[in-house]
Amino acid sequence: MIFTVAVDGPAAAGKGTISRALADRFGFAHLDTGLLYRAVGAKGGDPVQAAEGLTPEDLARGDLRTMAAGEAASKVAAIPAVRAALVAFQRNFARRAGGAVLDGRDIGTVICPEAEVKLFVTASAEVRAHRRWLEVGGDAAQVLAEVRARDDRDMNRADAPLKPASDAVLIDTSDLSIDAAVEAAAAEVARRLG
Ligand code: DC
Repeated sequence: MIFTVAVDGPAAAGKGTISRALADRFGFAHLDTGLLYRAVGAKGGDPVQAAEGLTPEDLARGDLRTMAAGEAASKVAAIPAVRAALVAFQRNFARRAGGAVLDGRDIGTVICPEAEVKLFVTASAEVRAHRRWLEVGGDAAQVLAEVRARDDRDMNRADAPLKPASDAVLIDTSDLSIDAAVEAAAAEVARRLG
């Protein structure tokens, strides 16, 4: 069975948690596409070469989850040749046998516009910054400023900007528990699976 669930949205909206839960529940493979851009940003040197030569070891680095790695990822993700180098891998993953969940920014719009289910998971910048702050600590106002700066860069780049696909189902997690958000997402998948 070929079945793709595209989960897009801004940083710290809950995409990763929802995607992992969907993959577990339905037995699908999961790809966190942000990790690809984080690995490219962390590798240093020429980002296009880094994207073209990305290895499994690059994706296994222990320092990819930091705010700094997210910031570096957002910068290299604006380079069209970096995005182009990562397309085939993501498309092959999306259409692998057995079903796949991919989370990112452009899965439903660019990588897999034919995805069977498209979700756009979002939350207010304040709520997302608060979640990030609970994880990383530090100055709350600065975390909010960084979340806003990353939104701005991801939404306003020329190539594959963050935006909901016209047929995406919106899930706003600002006032939802994790369980409620997962159930809302799972209901969409179950509905499409029949
Ligand atoms: O989801 P994340 O925070 O790990 O993503 C890090 C950055 O990578 C994000 O700010 C923008 C970029 N990204 C992207 O441009 N396209 C994707 N499909 C996933 C991430």
